[in-house]
Amino acid sequence: MDDKDSDLSELTGLANLPAELFDAAGEIYDRTKKAMWSLVKYKELKMMYACAIKEVQTKFDVLDTEFNVRHRRNPINSVSSRIKSTQSIIAKLLRKKLPVTPESMEANIYDIAGIRVVCSYIDDIYAIADALLAQDDIELVARKDYIKAPKPNGYRSLHLIVRVPVFFAETKKKVNVEVQIRTIAMDFWASLEHQLKYKKDIPDQQEIVARLKACADVITQTDEKMLGLRRRIESAEDMPTEEDILFEKLGKLDIQL
Ligand code: GTP
Ligand code: MG
Repeated sequence: MDDKDSDLSELTGLANLPAELFDAAGEIYDRTKKAMWSLVKYKELKMMYACAIKEVQTKFDVLDTEFNVRHRRNPINSVSSRIKSTQSIIAKLLRKKLPVTPESMEANIYDIAGIRVVCSYIDDIYAIADALLAQDDIELVARKDYIKAPKPNGYRSLHLIVRVPVFFAETKKKVNVEVQIRTIAMDFWASLEHQLKYKKDIPDQQEIVARLKACADVITQTDEKMLGLRRRIESAEDMPTEEDILFEKLGKLDIQL
């Protein structure tokens, strides 16, 4: 224990202990203090992740609003977010045989802040991802394209790990956020498949896995057909004159932002 703790040791009666016990109590006290500081740091980190989610979520809101005004169509169907639970963070650190400290969690776990963007069409996924990555405050840390290369079970989605700066009263912090972008159909499939992961000893598990894979294949074809149909409908529209474009833009003046 250092000098500044001497008041505390007087108050707690530690000062009256025999020397060996005093030292042992001092060590316990120091460790407890360290653990308390870790808790404070952990709470602050979680607050930063929550703020990073707000920043990225706003970017998606802005892109969707702009797209709607320009093209009268919302590419984004829904956006949801979550902060990884304390239990899952600790489990992941232990699984990876990493120290269970706030510093280690910040350095090694990239999906503490997670955002899922659900789009209608496959091309919207890439348009939204490109528009996000083109922003000069966004850094790409990692990209996994499970649409071009689906997982063997049939899972498809575009995953991005991005770093976004968050401005606080006294500091600026760059925070990692995991972004998963997928179509409505991919999301539908992934939520059912996710349930399978948490069930043990399901009868006919092999058959269910095979049927899920078959559904993933049908969903892939449907996503591609829907995109093809939308493109055909769009290209069948007449070439607009300058007046048409102006009147169309005027018609959008009252769109709810
Ligand atoms: P985690 O350690 O689980 O985060 O995986 P990872 O670091 O290998 O990253 P990956 O990009 O493969 O997966 C990240 C997240 O994507 C997972 O936490 C899930 O939310 C989702 N995901 C990945 N694979 C699957 C899958 O096969 N099925 C479902 N339903 N979701 C998946
Ligand atoms: Mg994860």
